[in-house]
This record gives sequence, C-alpha cells and structure tokens, in this order.
Amino acid sequence: MIERIETLKIIPVLAVDSVEHAGPLADALCGGGLPCAEVTLRTEAALGVIKRMARRENLLLGVGTVHNPDQAKAAIDAGATFVVTPGFNPRTVAWCLENDIPVFPGTSSPTDLELALEFGLELVKFFPAEAIGGVTTLKAFSAPYGELRFIPTGGITAKNLLDYTSLPCVAACGGSWMVRPELLHAGDFQEIERLVVEAVGLVSCQASLSGGNRTRLDR
Ligand code: 3PG
Repeated sequence: MIERIETLKIIPVLAVDSVEHAGPLADALCGGGLPCAEVTLRTEAALGVIKRMARRENLLLGVGTVHNPDQAKAAIDAGATFVVTPGFNPRTVAWCLENDIPVFPGTSSPTDLELALEFGLELVKFFPAEAIGGVTTLKAFSAPYGELRFIPTGGITAKNLLDYTSLPCVAACGGSWMVRPELLHAGDFQEIERLVVEAVGLVSCQASLSGGNRTRLDR
C-alpha cells in the first residue's frame, strides 16, 4: 500500500455531495493517470460514494476526515482500504492497526510524531501543511524524526506540489485542488481530468529529472 502511494505521489482528496458523481469522477481520476482517491466523510453521500468507487478494482480507495473507530469501520465496510485522519486519535489508530488497516493519521507537532513512533507507524499525514509552515516546518520535523515519512496535505496545489515531492521525507502529497467543489457541482469532469493530467505530468517530470521513482532504500 505505502509503495503504491509512493509511486503515485499524489492522493486526490474528495468531498463528493452526490453518489451519481462517483462513477465519472473515478473515470476522470483513472483516465488522468491517478487511480487513487481519499473520499472524505464530509458529506452525507460519502459512504455511498465509497461503495460505488470500490467497484473499480484498480482504484486505490481510502477514506478521509475520520474522527473515530466507528467511522473508520463504516468506511472500511463500504470498501475503503486505507484510513486518513486530520489529527492523531489514538483510538482510531489502534483500531486500524488491530484490524490490519493502513492508517495515516494527521500530525502537526513533534508530540504527534512521538505518538506515531509509539504506535510503530512509518507514514503519517502532515496537516494542515501550508498553514503550519509548509516545507520549512516539514524539514525541521524530519531532522529528529528521520525514520518517519509524510503525506503533506492542506494548501497544496500544482504551484507548490513539487516543493514538497522533492523532499526525501515526502511519500506523497494529498490535496483537493484537482477536484474542486465548483467543478464537481458543474459536472466538469473534463477539467478535473485535465488538472489530474497536469499534476501527474509535474511529478513524472520531476521523477525523471531526479533519476526516476527511487525507493526508500535507495535514498
Ligand atoms: C484534507 O481533508 O486533507 C484537506 O482539507 C485537504 O486540504 P486542501 O483542501 O487544502 O487540499
């Protein structure tokens, strides 16, 4: 799971109001070269969207904005295969680990990172990335916590994506910039796919300039 996330380099974060949008959205993500989605539990339709998207076998499907084990379980039952949380809830993390579910809890302080180590995690979300100092803060975190890797999320766009993905401590970036609410409401899946293609092109170009997608052991 972590290797696949690391290869894709980007996790599209979705807040989808209508189950009807699940199919075309999955098409746009897969068609654009990013078969991955974090469906946030911020809408009434979220679990239905997860159920619908789970039909796509090639789509790496996670659930986001999870605040407790019950929500995690409901989303996993609906078909999600990984869990992302905005903050570090030890109960949610423990439930996921007990049930062999990959979990990437939000961290925003060294105290959170200590907890991540206590739980034996190797990959965590860094949230809200831009608001808490972005790349500068992430580099500062990474120095004493070299064994941890991060999924920065929050305020990331095509403009600053590569600043993050160029850091060895970054496995992938999360963000909603490709699936903006106004595009979803307008049903503009063509533009969503264009933004996905653009993002994939950026990280692919960076990877080829730096010698390909290196694995952690190569670094
Ligand atoms: C999340 O839920 O992870 C964030 O809200 C996504 O942040 P963004 O909307 O700034 O990309």
